[in-house]
Amino acid sequence: VDSSDRMFLRACIVVCASLCLAQAEFTQFQWRSCTTDKVNQKLKVYSASARPMPVLTPGNLHLSFSAEVLQQIEPGTVLSFNMTRHTALGHDVHIPCLGGIGSCILDGCAIVDNLVNGTREGQRDLGRQLKKMFESVGIFTSCPITVQNVTITDYVIHIGDLDPALNVIADGDYTIQTTVLQPSTGVQYGCFEFDATLKRKETHGQGWLLGRRRRRSD
Ligand SMILES: *[C@@H]1O[C@H](CO)[C@@H](O)[C@H](O)[C@H]1NC(C)=O
Ligand SMILES: *[C@@H]1O[C@H](CO)[C@@H](O)[C@H](O)[C@H]1NC(C)=O
Ligand SMILES: *[C@@H]1O[C@H](CO)[C@@H](O)[C@H](O)[C@H]1NC(C)=O
Repeated sequence: VDSSDRMFLRACIVVCASLCLAQAEFTQFQWRSCTTDKVNQKLKVYSASARPMPVLTPGNLHLSFSAEVLQQIEPGTVLSFNMTRHTALGHDVHIPCLGGIGSCILDGCAIVDNLVNGTREGQRDLGRQLKKMFESVGIFTSCPITVQNVTITDYVIHIGDLDPALNVIADGDYTIQTTVLQPSTGVQYGCFEFDATLKRKETHGQGWLLGRRRRRSD
């Protein structure tokens, strides 16, 4: 992407961000099951929470969840994300898959390893933290994933400044639907949906619009 394209992109984001300032935001993490196929269900979520909401970047995100693997999850299983942005005009926009962010279909068994090996430092950093989180409960780092209960309580993930390449994911309100499925047969193993508001901290002089990268200070 050359610099004039970037300027254009940023201009679009500024316009979009200002259009959206008036909108409501989620102040509480809300989730719903969207599982329709109970017979083939392999993953059941009992509870989930994330705080603070809105999610602030950079900042710490506290995650808790409790889920049960009802049937063994085999290699080849994918996670299909469907990300929708709710705009001020009350109209929903589908966010496509952009460099691994958005409505992507990812290898469910290697998602963390692929993040750890990602091309951007932000991805790798997040990947390393998620890997530690899952290793702390001994699950989700590789397939098969055996039948078990999984509980994560108040695990803190540090979210860095969003990579400038991800500025297309503007501050705003999103609903993210995640379906666990077998891609060759289309059989769904479980579906989970949550609402989240993303907000960049505005306290830094320059802020994210200038795309300045900042390193974590700790
Ligand atoms: C994506 O999610 C939105 C609501 O969050 C829903 O209206 C839409 O039908 C979903 N699309 C697919 C392909 O599942
Ligand atoms: C990540 O990179 C390491 C070292 O290059 C490699 O050994 C490993 O197989 C990679 N993992 C994935 C999932 O690509
Ligand atoms: C998981 O927890 C539920 C509720 O406590 C229990 O009924 C179920 O047997 C547990 N499953 C496994 C695999 O331990």
